[in-house]
Amino acid sequence: MVQLLTVTLGIAQFLALSSCLPAGEQERRAILLEAPLAPTTTFERIATTSQTASTTIPATTGTVITSVTSASTSGNPVNTTAVETSGIGTITTASTTLSPSVSAPSAATASNIFVTVASDAPPSQISSRSDHPVVPSGIVNQTSPVGTNKFYANFFLGDQASGTWTHPYSMTWQKGGGVSGSWGLGISHIERSQLAYPAGTPPLEYFAAPIGIESIIFSAEELGSTTSLTTDTLTAFSGNVNLATTAGRDPLISFPLVQGMGFVTSVYSGATPWLQSTVFFSTLTYVGPVSDGGVYKWRLVLADQSNWLIYATPTGATGAPTFNLQNTSVITGPSGFTGTIQVAKNPANTTGEDAYDAAAGVYATGASITGQVDGTSGSYTLAYNKAGHSSGNTTLLMWALPHHIDSFDSATSGSVISSLQLVTTTKGMATAVSTDQFTLVENNLPSEIGFAPWNASTGQNINTLSSTAAQAIVSAGTVELAEDMVAQTDLNSMYYSGKALAKFAQIVYAVNTLAGDKSGAATSGLQNLESAYSTFVSNTQQFPLAYDTVWKGSLSTASYGGSDPNCGADFGNTCYNDHHFHYGYFVYAAALIAYLDPSWLTVNNGANKAWVNMLVRDYANGADDGYFPFSRNFDWYHGHSWAHGILETGDGKDEESSSEDSLSLYGMKMWGQVIGDPNMEARGNLELAVQARSLSNYFLYEDGNTIEPPNFVGNRVSGILFENKIDHTTYFGNAPEYIEAIHMIPLVPSSAYTRKATFVQQEWNQYFSNGRVDSTDGGWRGILYANLALIDPVTSFNWFNDPSFNASYLDGGASRTWYLAYSAGLGGSS
Ligand SMILES: *[C@@H]1O[C@H](CO)[C@@H](O)[C@H](O)[C@H]1NC(C)=O
Ligand SMILES: *[C@@H]1O[C@H](CO)[C@@H](O)[C@H](O)[C@H]1NC(C)=O
Ligand SMILES: *[C@@H]1O[C@H](CO)[C@@H](O)[C@H](O)[C@H]1NC(C)=O
Ligand SMILES: *[C@@H]1O[C@H](CO)[C@@H](O)[C@H](O)[C@H]1NC(C)=O
Ligand SMILES: *[C@@H]1O[C@H](CO)[C@@H](O)[C@H](O)[C@H]1NC(C)=O
Ligand SMILES: *[C@@H]1O[C@H](CO)[C@@H](O)[C@H](O)[C@H]1NC(C)=O
Ligand SMILES: *[C@@H]1O[C@H](CO)[C@@H](O)[C@H](O)[C@H]1NC(C)=O
Repeated sequence: MVQLLTVTLGIAQFLALSSCLPAGEQERRAILLEAPLAPTTTFERIATTSQTASTTIPATTGTVITSVTSASTSGNPVNTTAVETSGIGTITTASTTLSPSVSAPSAATASNIFVTVASDAPPSQISSRSDHPVVPSGIVNQTSPVGTNKFYANFFLGDQASGTWTHPYSMTWQKGGGVSGSWGLGISHIERSQLAYPAGTPPLEYFAAPIGIESIIFSAEELGSTTSLTTDTLTAFSGNVNLATTAGRDPLISFPLVQGMGFVTSVYSGATPWLQSTVFFSTLTYVGPVSDGGVYKWRLVLADQSNWLIYATPTGATGAPTFNLQNTSVITGPSGFTGTIQVAKNPANTTGEDAYDAAAGVYATGASITGQVDGTSGSYTLAYNKAGHSSGNTTLLMWALPHHIDSFDSATSGSVISSLQLVTTTKGMATAVSTDQFTLVENNLPSEIGFAPWNASTGQNINTLSSTAAQAIVSAGTVELAEDMVAQTDLNSMYYSGKALAKFAQIVYAVNTLAGDKSGAATSGLQNLESAYSTFVSNTQQFPLAYDTVWKGSLSTASYGGSDPNCGADFGNTCYNDHHFHYGYFVYAAALIAYLDPSWLTVNNGANKAWVNMLVRDYANGADDGYFPFSRNFDWYHGHSWAHGILETGDGKDEESSSEDSLSLYGMKMWGQVIGDPNMEARGNLELAVQARSLSNYFLYEDGNTIEPPNFVGNRVSGILFENKIDHTTYFGNAPEYIEAIHMIPLVPSSAYTRKATFVQQEWNQYFSNGRVDSTDGGWRGILYANLALIDPVTSFNWFNDPSFNASYLDGGASRTWYLAYSAGLGGSS
């Protein structure tokens, strides 16, 4: 779940800034005429090679955002309102039994998993709207749909001055503010020693990287108060940021931003470069040309003793441009400079310098992804486009995250420069790789996982249950299928509605298929479920969906019309929060319905299938199809999804519920299977494999996790993972069951795959063993006992099968029926 983090609220000054520059020094001249550099200019070589600033100013300490709460309401995702269970009369007996379409899970094979789901317009009942409450700022020349949940979104949201994390660096438009008063783009790299923690003994509730520590700021003398920031060419892995002296002018400096880019590269077009710093410059030393010439190198030492390298590559000019260290906060370059300036932090002395030298002058401009799956094996390749000096011959330097290193193929592994590492804010150590592409391999895809409970130690779906379990399932299912499905599913929230639909689909499946009941309860339950589902396909629910032509997506209309500008309704669905969570439940429910009743796919000219495909296209598209972006939520660089949509956020994108992220992928895999789309099914299988790897590193911490800070990993789960901090909390409260179990719900067959038994056991022992589970809150208790089935299915089954079982321990998305089937399938009832 994501709620809305507002930047302006809750920013705590962590430490007072230890120095500030007088305001007068922050003035900039705005030179409106941009003089292009004559192609034949030769720069004068500087006479002195080493320049030292006269005084040293203590470095900026930055600010830390300690809050995750927001001005808008944040709901508890578990609805424990007691449900009416007396409506037995709603069941109509039917004589036929259900005939599922697929008898056993397939193992999809696909040579290209990145294809569109469909490319036609969204279904006609989904009307288009162009009045989205959030208006994009400064997006230009963009033809493909914008990635609303991608890393660069702060650049086109709000005041455009919150950060973007490419890892290990982050960059933030200074917008005339901060210690520097600069109008340029600040580059930050935060060491572990700079992280902020609350007081106390470990495990500590959060760690957060300070904001506002700009080691180097790329600016230009010409930039002033009329500076305009635009973005263009926004894709899944990259985007360009441009600074112009005035709105509408051609960019003076452009920044090609790519996740994992080795250098931070600025492309100047006839500007007078100014490099600034809030850490402050100590010495600048000109070293000389690199390799075959054309690229010139400087060493820069900052007041915090960090070592940086600067590489300048002039175009249309020869010789090294002159850079002068004016004082501790400004380095000036030549006027009319055209070419690139790149910076890199060097923690590794000559080893690092050699690696950087070999890659200097070229830079990544974007990436394309390809992937294939064959049964339980799959691989994907991020191939980087590049530009710059002799780019055809120079290999890129890229940064890999820990889960990349662990899954590189042998060729990519051979290009890893293990001696050059920089820590990231929230993803452990980044390691340099000399390569133009990452190829990553997964050999344990969950291809065989179907709808039935799946045992991770045997790798089997459990389709046959004991007669004790079958009777319990039928008994509970008969009661639960008699509940008022319409009242529970036609809600003012896509999130709660989807959960309830998925719950009833699980119940029908458990009663019919796992318990083998032929009494008709399942058949009539399915009829009621199809009827309840049709409210959404016909778009007649309380807040219908619309197709948003501004950002290009299918969203809830709950926050349209000006009454809810911060998108507080329905967890921010209208502002692209949580689409994978919300729609994942609908897709999973649809997969179960279509499995039980194949005709559901073709009735009404395939209206059900087209509507569900629209949801998949919205959150998990295999490629940009013109109406929806590629992979809105899942981030193929990070290996998990981002839930946060188009509201500016000081700590970057975030995600709270790793398990609902998993459901969104599992649901898509199963939907792909029942509709016979092997590309979609295979993509879901590979995504689950990548995600399981990523979760083990960054979200679910077993003993011995060395990725995240030692003071934090004892929490077991991340809590909310942002780009810039991790906070062991939730948006709706701090009870341990909330924080831990939001990474458990919903319990589905793939939970045994993404939540390893070792982890589940350690988490249980730490938080819920020795009876502590029995003092947890309402519906959370049922979730905990269902999760217990992953390690102790007998206790789990017995708890749900107790004759005095109390339904107030069931979340609105959970049923006693499914939990009985789940725990029995994992061995709870032999
Ligand atoms: C640093 O140099 C720049 C450029 O010459 C100048 O504008 C600024 O006032 C100087 N700052 C200090 C503290 O001297
Ligand atoms: C957008 O495209 C126009 C026309 O091709 C071009 O002049 C302009 O520089 C582009 N803007 C950016 C920010 O790339
Ligand atoms: C960096 O390497 C050089 C050459 O090997 C060596 O002389 C110097 O002491 C090293 N500096 C540090 C800080 O390790
Ligand atoms: C690559 O190097 C070769 C040989 O030095 C040179 O002829 C060619 O122009 C270079 N290619 C590029 C794109 O710079
Ligand atoms: C919680 O569930 C009850 C019963 O199904 C329903 O009436 C209520 O609207 C739900 N609350 C929310 C916030 O969805
Ligand atoms: C079920 O549990 C709730 C909450 O603890 C309690 O209020 C209620 O009385 C219980 N119902 C029964 C039948 O025990
Ligand atoms: C899975 O199967 C194994 C072997 O039959 C069994 O020991 C185990 O209890 C089952 N359940 C789980 C959750 O591993």
